[in-house]
Amino acid sequence: MLSKLITFTLAVALAFAQVNAESHTVIFTNKCDFGTPILRASDGEILSVGGDYTSDGALVGAIAMSMLTPLSVRLSKYPGPCGDNGEGCTVIETTLQNDYSSTDISLVPPHKFSVTGGFGYFDGCNGAGADCAYSTCPTALLYSNQTWLQVACTDLNVNLAITFCD
Ligand SMILES: *[C@@H]1O[C@H](CO)[C@@H](O)[C@H](O)[C@H]1NC(C)=O
Repeated sequence: MLSKLITFTLAVALAFAQVNAESHTVIFTNKCDFGTPILRASDGEILSVGGDYTSDGALVGAIAMSMLTPLSVRLSKYPGPCGDNGEGCTVIETTLQNDYSSTDISLVPPHKFSVTGGFGYFDGCNGAGADCAYSTCPTALLYSNQTWLQVACTDLNVNLAITFCD
């Protein structure tokens, strides 16, 4: 009897934890002729090469960029591949964390405009986002002190859509 009660209590606790577990999904729309979107964690781990990524918990300090293929480099009409930290490329920087989400487009050197990039929150803070289509766009950070260009979201378990060349 007691063991049944314990089992039941555990099952309820587990169900509650699953319903309340924090997670965030990042999805990509890539309209670049060449290249692959990359989502990279703060520790360098590649989390996505274009597919949907869902975090288990908060996603802190991730970056996304459109990494061009060697073929496109040879075609030279397109900008080269991005460095590991997005050097030379338009970079979307994001922290998806309940109550404290913040996302921006960074052109702060060594980042540099390479392709049109944008983002928008969904399943929370709908409509909040930014797009940058040229190197002096007013929506991207050109200097690291332009913190007012970081788009915040305080909704829980918010998700993020990132676009390149759109
Ligand atoms: C931001 O940084 C740039 C480059 O260092 C500087 O020229 C500018 O004055 C700074 N702006 C503010 C508001 O601090």
